[in-house]
Amino acid sequence: MPPKTTTTTFITTVLLLLTVTSVTPKSTIEPCSTNNSCTALLGYTLYTDLKLSELANLFQTDPINILSINSIDVSQSDVVSHILPSQLFLKIPITCSCVDGIRKSVSTRYKTRPSDTLSSIADVVYGGLVSADQIKEANEIDDPNVLDVGMSLVVPLQCACFNGTDNNMPVVYMAYVVRPVDTLAGIAVRFKTTVTDVMVVNGLGGGDDVEDGDILAIPLSACASNFPRHAFDYALSVPSGGYAVIANHCVQCSCTPGSRLYCQPASMSVSCSSMQCKRSNLMLGNVTVQQSSAGCNVTSCDYGGFVNGTIITTLSSSLQPRCPGPQQVPQLIAPPIVVSPDMVSAPPTPASPDMVPAPAPSPFQLSGAPIDSLPGSVVPSTSSSLVFPPSANGPSGTSSRACTLVNPLSSFSLAMVLVLFLKVMFPFL
Ligand SMILES: *[C@@H]1O[C@H](CO)[C@@H](O)[C@H](O)[C@H]1NC(C)=O
Ligand SMILES: *[C@@H]1O[C@H](CO)[C@@H](O)[C@H](O)[C@H]1NC(C)=O
Ligand SMILES: *[C@@H]1O[C@H](CO)[C@@H](O)[C@H](O)[C@H]1NC(C)=O
Ligand SMILES: *[C@@H]1O[C@H](CO)[C@@H](O)[C@H](O)[C@H]1NC(C)=O
Ligand SMILES: *[C@@H]1O[C@H](CO)[C@@H](O)[C@H](O)[C@H]1NC(C)=O
Repeated sequence: MPPKTTTTTFITTVLLLLTVTSVTPKSTIEPCSTNNSCTALLGYTLYTDLKLSELANLFQTDPINILSINSIDVSQSDVVSHILPSQLFLKIPITCSCVDGIRKSVSTRYKTRPSDTLSSIADVVYGGLVSADQIKEANEIDDPNVLDVGMSLVVPLQCACFNGTDNNMPVVYMAYVVRPVDTLAGIAVRFKTTVTDVMVVNGLGGGDDVEDGDILAIPLSACASNFPRHAFDYALSVPSGGYAVIANHCVQCSCTPGSRLYCQPASMSVSCSSMQCKRSNLMLGNVTVQQSSAGCNVTSCDYGGFVNGTIITTLSSSLQPRCPGPQQVPQLIAPPIVVSPDMVSAPPTPASPDMVPAPAPSPFQLSGAPIDSLPGSVVPSTSSSLVFPPSANGPSGTSSRACTLVNPLSSFSLAMVLVLFLKVMFPFL
């Protein structure tokens, strides 16, 4: 081996060791006391090419909802067999419940395959959204080295509701796993929020930055519904730029930045009950405007929730100073077949290719692959988690809304010192 390769390998190994021995990723945990739930999102990067149906199965969620929330066109025939490309970043909608006093989703199950390990499931298949220890605990596994093939494992996924608001504005929270190339500022820009908001929500102190593997709750601006409490889709909130397909796939509601929830018949609606507003010829989503001397008379046929299997429509009229323009809806994109730069979860690192983990093999190619040596595979991440008991008046304050486990030893700085040291010692690097 030429010396350069050897030294590079050495540095990589040292860095990996350092990562493995001292980093405990932070994660934001929301205490809760009531067993209400909300829709939350997971920021997920595909570890391999997956059919939409396989992806939906991985999270036990509705494939149509995965596409809609990402504004991907669902009207193509046989869309569930569509193959989504590796490294594609998608928001996955999940139901976020209150379990054992903290917010998490426990409806996801994973069926073990040959050569799976808890680490490969946590770090590769679920992209770090869960840790090996969390899976171990949730399933009361005594010996993680003995995983029977075909076991159905509960995959507890962290999520947050925080009452669906941030600074009194409606939001949907997305769990996001920090990549080595991420910075707080970059994350804030990418998800159209602010550094301050991300810090407050995640209880980060001043001067902190985020590190590889941390799980953050990112507030994504959204349009909230005001359906009655007895409606099946009560408290629906749709993140900006996306859609939700509801009422037995009959209705689609969208959210354009800064506007109200807008619902109309879904493009794929087949046997649906009438979506016409009573005492009018308007259909769900239709808006008529009439200019008069007094202003603009706006009449609309709105969606009022799915109650007892019935689509509720409400006709409303109001006099507005100016007539509204045509309704804007988020643009749909075709189901992706390749990953374009704005779809991947992080830009490629130009500087240090050695530190980027190799693309993960698909589960069908795992035999003999040294999965155990993937970075982060033995990182303990829950054993020392810190959860504050739910406070009396609920979790949604501003000061202590999130409890965060902060790693006392910043191994990243240590690593940087080491890199500098090695650069000095081996200038040919
Ligand atoms: C959850 O709340 C419902 C009422 O909304 C109650 O009937 C049920 O017992 C609660 N379950 C738990 C586990 O607290
Ligand atoms: C949750 O938000 C609603 C308004 O969206 C508010 O009325 C309610 O008081 C909030 N609940 C808590 C516990 O903060
Ligand atoms: C009313 O809504 C239906 C369904 O979305 C649409 O096909 C129709 O063109 C709309 N009519 C008007 C007058 O906007
Ligand atoms: C607005 O128009 C609707 C129907 O076009 C009508 O029923 C209603 O009375 C009008 N309202 C006003 C304030 O003109
Ligand atoms: C829903 O329908 C059932 C019978 O189909 C009825 O008993 C019940 O009262 C209905 N609930 C509401 C909220 O309308």
